[in-house]
Amino acid sequence: MKVTICIGSACHLKGSREIISKLQKLVDENGLSDKVDLNGAFCSGNCDHGVCVTVEGELYSLKPEDTEEFFENEIKGRL
Ligand code: FES
Repeated sequence: MKVTICIGSACHLKGSREIISKLQKLVDENGLSDKVDLNGAFCSGNCDHGVCVTVEGELYSLKPEDTEEFFENEIKGRL
């Protein structure tokens, strides 16, 4: 499963680094590092709503505090 997190400047200001490190930790803790491929991406023009994260090409807007719920529902829940 390919997951990309925007590291463009607007998303960076909204906490993309924090989201990346949280996701990385959750993936590791759940032993999913061979199933989930985390990548950085550049601005995709969707900066308005929060940090852009895509899962298999599907776009989500995340806040750092939503990362755990997002992981449960959209990443773990789909594997
Ligand atoms: S900076 Fe992330 S979508 Fe623009």
